[in-house]
Amino acid sequence: MTAIAAPHAGSIETSTRDIDEVTEADGDRAVLRWLVATAICVVVALVIGGVTRLTESGLSITEWRPVSGVVPPMSDADWARAFQSYLQIPEAQDVHRGITLDAFKALYWWEWVHRLLARLVGLVIAVPFFVLLLRRRIRPALQLRLANLPILVAAQGVLGWYMVKSGLTERTDVSPYRLVAHLAVAVVIYLIAAWTAITLRRRVVAMDRLGVTVAVLAFVTILSGGFVAGLDAGKVYNEYPLMGAGVVPTEYGAMGAWWRDALENPVSAQFNHRVMAIMTLLVALGAWRVRDGRGSAEALRAWRWVAIAAMAQVALGIGTLLLAVPIPLAALHQVGALGVLTAGLWAAGAASPPASGGGIHQDGPGLS
Ligand code: HEM
Repeated sequence: MTAIAAPHAGSIETSTRDIDEVTEADGDRAVLRWLVATAICVVVALVIGGVTRLTESGLSITEWRPVSGVVPPMSDADWARAFQSYLQIPEAQDVHRGITLDAFKALYWWEWVHRLLARLVGLVIAVPFFVLLLRRRIRPALQLRLANLPILVAAQGVLGWYMVKSGLTERTDVSPYRLVAHLAVAVVIYLIAAWTAITLRRRVVAMDRLGVTVAVLAFVTILSGGFVAGLDAGKVYNEYPLMGAGVVPTEYGAMGAWWRDALENPVSAQFNHRVMAIMTLLVALGAWRVRDGRGSAEALRAWRWVAIAAMAQVALGIGTLLLAVPIPLAALHQVGALGVLTAGLWAAGAASPPASGGGIHQDGPGLS
């Protein structure tokens, strides 16, 4: 082991630092950078994935080649083969009936970029994880939790293909259940990265229960939004706050068993999403009022962002609905969902003091 000594101003005392031994704070900073990169990558992938769905491009690549699929069609013959394969699926014969090769190429590029990005996200998550683990930069208390990230991102690739497969034979779109599962895994990856980053920045000794409540409500609202997207439920009842003659639409419950109706009836899915969204908004605003004027400056800032994010998200949702799902607004609405979730997580952790030297509390957070 080599030790270097640095002169201390005005004294012969020296402070020594072992340059071979990586301090916990250094390790935490490296992990923090990786987690922030992970969270950003997930947001970008989510937006591109959303646009891929909204442009109805998601089924344009009818095969799954995790490695060689990086190379797009290079020749006219390659394009002709990919086009012929696409023309066999129900979506091409119904939704995109009469599609030209040029129009097909536009669809193909969206899906290709989405898949390329997915591979990059996989690399951004998995490679640094194993490097940091081998170099002992990840605290033992976090290793198990963070090991979920490479596992989940690999599962997400398989799930993505499982989702696409559901739209290749009988349906003209993908299974809403699989779409929501795909969305949920993306959000869980984001959640693990964002929450761990927050705990690394702060000595989280106790989570603010109200912040946790907002985050949980945002998560459930996101899942309900996934069903709205998967069932194309943003194209019905493009009005607010009424749905037809009343607040509750007449078709609510028309599909039999409540769970089936909630998950398969587009009108009910939209109504449930409205209810969940308003609940999230009311709890976010109520919690902000309760916490306002108390706690640290950062906690106050976090709660203000909870209120702003929730109000903006509801406004974006209503705008998306009234305008019958224009792509830019719908994509913004998707990002806004992560904004509400992030603000809730931030408020959950902001009650604790900042970590000195970037470390987290070893005992892990409790609830307050
Ligand atoms: C806290 C509030 C809200 C959250 C967290 C939220 C979240 C989401 C999410 C995650 C999606 C799925 C997007 C996708 O996978 O493409 C979605 C879709 C949707 N949401 Fe919201 N939402 C909220 C409020 C609202 C409100 C108030 C409305 C309108 C009444 C609304 C209308 C819609 C519509 C129409 C879609 C479907 C858009 C599409 O087809 O892409 N949302 N929401």
